[in-house]
Amino acid sequence: MQRASKRKMSSPCGEIAHGLEDVLIKTTSISDIDGERGILWYRGYRIEDLARNSTYEEVAYLLLYGKLPTRGELDEFTSRLAKNRDLNPATVEVLKNLAYAHPMFAAEAAIATEGAFDDDNRKLSESLRTGKYGDEEKALAYRIAEKLVAKMATIVAYHYRLSRGLEPVRPREDLPHAANFLYLMFGKMPERLAVRGLDLYLILHADHEVPASTLAAQVVASTLSDLYSSIAAAVAALKGPLHGGANEAVVRTYLEIGDPSRAKSIVEAATKPGGPKLMGVGHRVYKAYDPRARILKDFARDYMTKYGDRDNLFAIAVAIEQEVLSLPYFRQRRLYPNVDFWSGIVLYYLGIPYEYYTPLFAVSRVVGWVAHILEYWDNNRIFRPRACYVGPHDLKYVPINERA
Ligand code: ACO
Repeated sequence: MQRASKRKMSSPCGEIAHGLEDVLIKTTSISDIDGERGILWYRGYRIEDLARNSTYEEVAYLLLYGKLPTRGELDEFTSRLAKNRDLNPATVEVLKNLAYAHPMFAAEAAIATEGAFDDDNRKLSESLRTGKYGDEEKALAYRIAEKLVAKMATIVAYHYRLSRGLEPVRPREDLPHAANFLYLMFGKMPERLAVRGLDLYLILHADHEVPASTLAAQVVASTLSDLYSSIAAAVAALKGPLHGGANEAVVRTYLEIGDPSRAKSIVEAATKPGGPKLMGVGHRVYKAYDPRARILKDFARDYMTKYGDRDNLFAIAVAIEQEVLSLPYFRQRRLYPNVDFWSGIVLYYLGIPYEYYTPLFAVSRVVGWVAHILEYWDNNRIFRPRACYVGPHDLKYVPINERA
């Protein structure tokens, strides 16, 4: 595929915002990014403060409901999430049938299946069809939102177990989201630092304004399709290597490199015309170091200090980062490590196989996707952009047996 990097393209119909770069599609109060200074806020709170003091549940509540919860609100929210963790038996069957497919395919199919069997979803869809979206419908939508957050984790963990020929284990209502996920995946109580690492990962990926997957979710939801189908579309968009698939590619590359001394040649290859892009580097919005990457790097350092640098990954990443920060090619284009540069390493240290890195991104981001859909539904308008047609018109139709 030919890769276009120019943000504005001229066309016979005027200028085109290629890849919708810098096009504003709505107003939002969910998250904000200052790409020049490398700052991220969720609902006005700096990501560093949330990462240091919060939990995924607290952040999920903040993103969905627009304010930090009181202790009582958080306890109730946590308990509702925990009670919603079980999957419909039909979804478990789908996961069994897709046990050997990539988990992102399985996640797409499984989330759509959950939607097909959720009565709340059916009721809400019927109301939306008749143009009703009042307080009652909103309450249903928020109830579904909480189910989506709870069930995405179970879907991914179940797929992991089924793909390894292991029986899924029942979710634990007494465990927080991150700890329950690790328990569901590995079938034993996780260690404290591993839970902290996963919780941090989930906090940092929970929302990021309107990247491709969040846009996909909103495009589908704007047609008044149901919430589960909208989230399945977001999962599909996240799967691509230019979006959520990059963290998997990063770790594969580092493992291939094997030794920090080989970092330079890999980085230099990415600077050659037509060379492969260096995964985990560059961002459409950040023209500075991604603040999430910095937090994950600190965690990776702490983890590595305690448990050792498995497969030299930290040392390789540091060597690559030094090259990226020093080479004029990256400096001139303002390309810095993004969140995926370090997130894959954290997940690798936690023992999560790389095909589950992008699904884990979905486990976290599902709350951002659904928060954006609910925000958009408050002022819904179907997405329907235009394209500039540059092909011919009024060609003469030639019957098939007269064609050369
Ligand atoms: N390695 C080498 N060169 C790069 C890289 C990279 N990782 N990223 C961008 N460039 C170069 C481009 O070749 C282009 O050079 P040119 O001006 O000489 O043609 C220039 O930098 C601008 O790049 P674009 O592709 O126009 O930037 P765009 O905003 O379209 O893409 C993207 C952003 C997709 C993230 C890109 O930087 C990339 O592919 N990075 C690697 C994949 C990755 O890490 N994705 C994760 C993103 S974060 C997330 O989704 C969670």
